[in-house]
Amino acid sequence: MQLANQVAIITGASSGIGEAITRCFAAEGARVVLAARSEEKLRGLAAELGAERALVVPTDVADSGQVERLVAQTVERFGGVDVLVNNAGIGLLGRMEETDWEHFRRMWEVNFFGLVRLTRAALPYLKKRKGVVVNISSVAGKLALPYMSGYCATKSALNAFSTGLRMDVAQAGVRVVVICPGRVRTRFHANVYREGENLPGVFRAEKRRYTGITAEEVARATLRAVRRNRREIVVPWTLRLLVGFRALFPAFTDRMLVRLFR
Ligand SMILES: NC(=O)c1ccc[n+]([C@@H]2O[C@H](COP(=O)([O-])OP(=O)(O)OC[C@H]3O[C@@H](n4cnc5c(N)ncnc54)[C@H](OP(=O)(O)O)[C@@H]3O)[C@@H](O)[C@H]2O)c1
Repeated sequence: MQLANQVAIITGASSGIGEAITRCFAAEGARVVLAARSEEKLRGLAAELGAERALVVPTDVADSGQVERLVAQTVERFGGVDVLVNNAGIGLLGRMEETDWEHFRRMWEVNFFGLVRLTRAALPYLKKRKGVVVNISSVAGKLALPYMSGYCATKSALNAFSTGLRMDVAQAGVRVVVICPGRVRTRFHANVYREGENLPGVFRAEKRRYTGITAEEVARATLRAVRRNRREIVVPWTLRLLVGFRALFPAFTDRMLVRLFR
């Protein structure tokens, strides 16, 4: 699929991976609809991209009314939807018994139910245009990690949802692409709900150290995956080796990860 003049809704466009995908798709000639809660940041980005090709719709994906409005305003302004990028997401780190239940539920509302909510609302329009759903998952959805069981579960659920949806909508000509990044240098790590006082050193250090690939690398990989009709990609691809290793040696890999995170 080429993106010139295609209409793409991108959630979480105010920051990190969503912002990078928005810039990347706009550079390919797409008309982009920027959705997130931080209206000012979205307006700044839209002004850079040009009013004729960028629409801002402040949206909390956990709110059904706002999600319906996002789709309605997109169709009203650009006449349809070709690409839906479900990228908005938050993380949660901590021991399960110390986890704030409201934070836990909120994470599911954004990472999973928000994505399903918006996909449901956009699907009738995506079917009309034989469009693409791009779901930003995580390597954490394929390789669960210590102290992140809830977050990993939201991404694992997203992966299963995407696989089922792909089969449901294939006949209608709609494609589903899943992107599984490893660690990316964004605000995500600062925004994570951090539960409890005595997290292992690796997470305390996280506040200061920003390691991993860039959001632009993920955006370029996403563009390639959409163009080449890929089902799922892992970025960087080398992490596939770790996922494969876990499948072959689950107990050994789990012990290794626990030791690493301690
Ligand atoms: N960074 C990583 O290491 C990494 C690795 C793998 C996967 N991911 C996934 O990549 C996606 C993007 O994360 P990022 O790294 O770019 O983090 P980020 O810089 O913190 O961006 C998160 C985006 O989600 C938006 N968002 C949060 N809650 C929202 C809500 N209720 N409604 C609408 N938008 C909401 C935020 O915008 P507002 O605050 O303005 O609403 C922001 O634009 C997430 O799904 C994350 O799970 C990240």
